[in-house]
Amino acid sequence: MFKRLISVVRHAKKYLLIIVFTLPASVWAQTTAEGAQGAVSSRSMLASQVGLDIMKQGGNAVDAAVAMGFALAVTYPSAGNLGGGGFMMLHTEAGEVLALDFRETAPGTAAENMFLDDSGSVIAGMSTETHLAAGIPGSVAGLLEALNKHGTFSREKVLAPAIKLAEEGFPLPSDIATQFSKHQDKFKKYAGSARSFIKKNKTYQAGEIWKQPDLALTLKLIAAQGRDGFYKGKVADLIVAEMEKGNGRISHNDLLSYEPVWRKPIHGTYRSFEIWGMPPPSSGGILVQQILNMLEPFVLDKSRRNQDETLHLMIEAERRAYADRAEYLGDSDFYPVPIERLIDKTYAKQRFSDFDVQKASNSDEIGPGAWPEESRETTHYSVMDAKGNAVSVTTTLNTAYGNKIVVDGAGFLLNNEMDDFSIKPGFANTYGLLGNKANAIAPNKRMLSSMSPTIVTLNGQPFLATGSPGGSTIITTTLQVLINVVDHNMTLASAVKSPRFHHQWKPNKVFYEPGALSEAQLSVLRSKNHVGIIPSPWKIGDANSVIKRKRGFISVSDPRSMGGALAY
Ligand code: DON
Repeated sequence: MFKRLISVVRHAKKYLLIIVFTLPASVWAQTTAEGAQGAVSSRSMLASQVGLDIMKQGGNAVDAAVAMGFALAVTYPSAGNLGGGGFMMLHTEAGEVLALDFRETAPGTAAENMFLDDSGSVIAGMSTETHLAAGIPGSVAGLLEALNKHGTFSREKVLAPAIKLAEEGFPLPSDIATQFSKHQDKFKKYAGSARSFIKKNKTYQAGEIWKQPDLALTLKLIAAQGRDGFYKGKVADLIVAEMEKGNGRISHNDLLSYEPVWRKPIHGTYRSFEIWGMPPPSSGGILVQQILNMLEPFVLDKSRRNQDETLHLMIEAERRAYADRAEYLGDSDFYPVPIERLIDKTYAKQRFSDFDVQKASNSDEIGPGAWPEESRETTHYSVMDAKGNAVSVTTTLNTAYGNKIVVDGAGFLLNNEMDDFSIKPGFANTYGLLGNKANAIAPNKRMLSSMSPTIVTLNGQPFLATGSPGGSTIITTTLQVLINVVDHNMTLASAVKSPRFHHQWKPNKVFYEPGALSEAQLSVLRSKNHVGIIPSPWKIGDANSVIKRKRGFISVSDPRSMGGALAY
């Protein structure tokens, strides 16, 4: 459909707007699809189309996921990326479940106090809006590692669709055009960003063809040379030159030494299902399992959905798990994270022994600035094929468009992931998350993440691939999708659509989406001493998921945003 659209547009530019606005909505977004051969779900219809096409050409779910990762860097620039990082959970057709960490890494010259002034105070904006905010990008190395080990297609073949989209352009969806306009003042500050996002001093309009020639060149170098096309040579020179313009610290040596890491997945059970999640440097897998462990002794079946006691129970479990996160979690290569203890069912029992059915426990209020004004963007995509491969990937630049700095000449944005470190003990990051020594900055350390790409298996087979963006709310979003499917027996579409709520220990607040808590439930929660129950300023999460049912694959893209669920 899009290919046709692009060629029509090229020949009849003046009719563009008419064409775009009369296109069926399904060109821009599709929330569900079913098929027996394979299924994909992502935040970008174009990227989903790329993944589906790869599988239709005989590629497996890994080939599709890698192609989608590169395509998202072109079609969904606020979070899809070459200059960021992420995590991939993978169920192989041989029945193994693997976890690939391609998180960004602090540069070799990073220092614990690098975002503090001489008096030890945090310098506002330094860990989010500067060259110094960028960690060493991991996505290119990570995607290529997944392809090398578990893909079947060549690098050139999986990169071809992304190159084409960058080179020939595509009609800009309205939500992305709005974002370009929103961030234009920041983009104008950097030559590379202005070249990518601003056209002759104006922002692009919805439906206009948006091309990214510099990004196309970078992608071609990666296709031709593999990781060396990014971490060495021209692109590496451009990254280092960009760093020099703004006192950034990523060096040639940092780029050369970046490595993705295969890690032991967090593995636990919940009722009759096995849950596989991401270990540190993400907190996602541990927290999801820890909360599930605390909930498991309680009956949460369909009849308990949205009941006051269920909400109270979930909030209390979340409070305790996030408190542990702040104290114990960080990059386990640098800090002894007590992983086994945290995901142990006996520990959950003990940790939850002070749970009071009648009353909320108390997390002290924290100061202002705990909840972000910054718009938040990360992206999750899921893929399954009929051979038994399932892939669940969450990737990000951290906040929307990362540090907003496009590497001049290379056409991709840099992340601002350094803010995910605890830049000072007790100082809340963009998502209001606190941390301590475990997540302090150190050279070559990876900052703690909440990203929770998850694979659920049943009787040894992939059952569900899910995950979400949303900073600290990633974990509670993923959890709610799981509980909705496993306990409340909901269809995947309803499980994903269902309004969400979130508690993260500190700030001591319950954030909820419209419809998540009724007036009656609000008063019950207040009567149990829950404080700070407020409507979330954001839609919570964007859980693009795929499930395997008896009749085949069902893919669902979260209706909170314009994404693409496709299957065949
Ligand atoms: O790794 C993390 O936890 C964050 N950098 C994720 C940021 C995020 O989800 C923003 N998006 N909505």
